[in-house]
Amino acid sequence: MTEAGSAPPTRLWGGRFESGPADALARLSVSVQFDWRLAPYDLLASRAHTRALFGAGLLTEAERDSMLGALDDLDQACRDGSFRPTAADEDVHTALERGLLERLGALGGKLRAGRSRNDQVATDLRLYLRDHVRMIVSRLAELETALLGQAERHADVAVPGFTHLQHAQPVLFSHQLLAHVHAFARDADRLRDWDKRAAISPLGAGALAGSSLPFDPRELAKQLGFASATTNSMDAVSDRDFAAEFCFAAALIGVHLSRLGEEIVLWSSQEFGWIEIDDAYATGSSIMPQKKNPDVAELARGKAGRLIGGLTGLLTTLKGLPLTYNRDLQEDKEPVFDAVDTLLLVLPAVAGLISTFRLHAERVSASASAGFTLATDLAEYLVQRGVPFREAHEIVGHLVVWCQVHDVELEDVDDDDLQRVSPHLTPDVRQVLTVRGALEARKEHGGTAPARVAEQLAALHALADQHAAWATS
Ligand code: ARG
Repeated sequence: MTEAGSAPPTRLWGGRFESGPADALARLSVSVQFDWRLAPYDLLASRAHTRALFGAGLLTEAERDSMLGALDDLDQACRDGSFRPTAADEDVHTALERGLLERLGALGGKLRAGRSRNDQVATDLRLYLRDHVRMIVSRLAELETALLGQAERHADVAVPGFTHLQHAQPVLFSHQLLAHVHAFARDADRLRDWDKRAAISPLGAGALAGSSLPFDPRELAKQLGFASATTNSMDAVSDRDFAAEFCFAAALIGVHLSRLGEEIVLWSSQEFGWIEIDDAYATGSSIMPQKKNPDVAELARGKAGRLIGGLTGLLTTLKGLPLTYNRDLQEDKEPVFDAVDTLLLVLPAVAGLISTFRLHAERVSASASAGFTLATDLAEYLVQRGVPFREAHEIVGHLVVWCQVHDVELEDVDDDDLQRVSPHLTPDVRQVLTVRGALEARKEHGGTAPARVAEQLAALHALADQHAAWATS
């Protein structure tokens, strides 16, 4: 922000006031330091409003053209940085009106007819978010693609699957990666769905009651790429559901990133030894020369906190507000902007981390049956031979204890010892005691059998492509 010059400040109000605002009020009130990023969207809405004023006979053709020319010029000046808000501009709308007055003199003052900052700011924020949601969905699609790439590369690698962070049953590593893809795919779908509800224009609602000037808000909506215009001007200026819903979608993406981040932290630890993070996505320690730290994953995990905080703060701001516009609503922007910035920062880093890690495939496959992960298969095999599951569970439990005492794996127990544990444990049970067999057996819909995972992979690829295409359409 530049210093305020010596010219009197542009204020959008003040006619009825005898004195100017106290410094403390002005400092509290000012939002231009964060809402300046709405400038390009405010200018878009101003162009549409200019045409509406012309349509309503409130601007001559020449005035309309000068206005549109000045708005283009101002847009350019904002982009190249030659026009900047000053400390005396209360908000983005004030700064841009000053820019217009500098270019057009009194004519610049005509643009404000029939609109209010209340419908303007609600419109600007929707335009900004609809634009940035597309960028976020692009980055989500890239993350989906990165996970899909690793799943494809390691399609046949078995790993121990966990519950309670204890070895549970063998699964394909690709199945586990695809579970994360499903979460991010739902996030992308959620944002696409959000966009339908956000595509309603509040412009034309004025301060709260609509405008008495003859222009059609639906025409304004069309020019700004909205699907429709609001049918209730009071709702239009007070509704921030689109912002809260976006913050929720962002917070859930944060939660999903944090869960993936935690897995990466585990997988890259000495104890797991599943993956090696690429040097480009790892950091070192200032004191311990040997260290390679998973900071990208940890920051992804940590950023969930601020995304959840933003949502909580915004909902708390909205709670109990009477209709219609209240200045509290100025607090809607920072959590939204912070969520956008955070996701656009984290998502590419996590996508890079994922697409470049190296899997120690042999080491992880070797541990797929460790911790007796084939025990369920054995119990289910006995069930198929008529043993009640309760009894089968008991028998296999005994066998596991026997193995622990003798320090062997299930598949290494010889025929006599199997018989000693239970007469039901005939030598043929050994046929289900292979990781391959266990994977192949889980061939029903949604299971980890290689054939099911291959189908899942193809479907998720198509979905990720759809997300990427939507984001750029
Ligand atoms: N800076 C304000 C906001 O972000 C703009 C709307 C102010 N409207 C008003 N009537 N004071 O909400």
